[in-house]
Amino acid sequence: MTNAAHGGRLVNRQSFGKDTSEIKKTVAIDRVALSDLELIANGTYSPLTGFLDEENYHSVVETMHLKNGLAWTIPITLPVSEQTAGAVSAGDKVKLSYNGEIYGILDVTEKFRPDKEKEAARVYLTTDPEHPGVRRLFSRGPINLAGPVELIRRSPRPAEFARDYLDPAETRRLFTEKGWRTIVGFQTRNPIHRAHEHIQKTALETVDGLFINPLVGETKADDIPAGIRMRSYHVLIDNYYVKERTALAVFPAAMRYAGPREAVFHAICRKNFGCTHFIVGRDHAGVKDYYGPYDAQKIFAHFTRKELDIQTLFFENSYYCTKCGGMASNKTCPHDSSFHVALSGTKVRAMLRAGVRPPETFSRPEVVDVLIEGLNRKQTANADHQEV
Ligand code: ADX
Repeated sequence: MTNAAHGGRLVNRQSFGKDTSEIKKTVAIDRVALSDLELIANGTYSPLTGFLDEENYHSVVETMHLKNGLAWTIPITLPVSEQTAGAVSAGDKVKLSYNGEIYGILDVTEKFRPDKEKEAARVYLTTDPEHPGVRRLFSRGPINLAGPVELIRRSPRPAEFARDYLDPAETRRLFTEKGWRTIVGFQTRNPIHRAHEHIQKTALETVDGLFINPLVGETKADDIPAGIRMRSYHVLIDNYYVKERTALAVFPAAMRYAGPREAVFHAICRKNFGCTHFIVGRDHAGVKDYYGPYDAQKIFAHFTRKELDIQTLFFENSYYCTKCGGMASNKTCPHDSSFHVALSGTKVRAMLRAGVRPPETFSRPEVVDVLIEGLNRKQTANADHQEV
């Protein structure tokens, strides 16, 4: 038995192969919009059936709820240029293209000018253009097209991890086949280090199954490319996880780095995959020091348990303590920080790029092997990610 979709019904807007020859207008979309199109269509963003209209946009930005009252924290919009917007009117049906290929259809119900300053301040809690999510927001077009969508073709899947894609309908089937009644979802955009493994396995002690769901959409340039990360997840699971208790599939969304708001959004998406529980650790979806280390946990107090209907599992900052001789946090370890193995993501990435191995107390050696090898094969690194 899996959790019900957000809003009660798993959305399906997939019409693969549908004839679009009658539709005359085409709108070119960017990679983020293409991934949003697919995630709306396969139900990951249930209850959304399309890109937000003006009323829902303002409602989400201001109240973290859709106008029908359902919790929703990140505006999913289709920004286009003035020129593109000028050629489209409410009532039009348009084809949505990326790189000259048609992927979807949009029933344009509205076009409107978003308030990006307000969106940045409310959603990202900063208007600083150095913030990678804010930078992307300001770099996209000034007019939003709104309306329901259909997906007529899936976007190409990187060969390296094409086998790791599952739609929410498929993860729900998988969880049911495995006989899991309680499933904890784990979001990540990083290789799984010992701290991640520790919180995953601690959570798994209390539920039936662990669903590792790494984000593989657009990330910032210095994050580790998705293909390398996916190899590292497989090697870790093969060596250290119980197969009957673990499932792995990608989350092909773009990273927003919106910290607290994105944590709620991530939880809702995992509920749509069928999860009953969701892990939120230290500085979930954060970047630099824009958010406090536990802001992404505190935001859940704004929602009732019933309205999100997914059990969040909060974790303190965890680390290896050399005196305890194991993974711990300030809740469980009485020793001072000189005993703690703590490395920042930036520091670890620099070490790996230089071929320097982080200690085994930080990262499993099999994972380190994959990361060093992958990061030093530059071509791969450049092929599967783009800067936001
Ligand atoms: S995120 O941007 O996807 O949140 P990351 O992949 O590093 O980044 O984190 C995945 C999850 O693990 C998040 O819930 C995050 O809060 C949690 N996490 C990461 N590192 C730690 C740590 N050292 N202690 C506790 N939680 C952590």
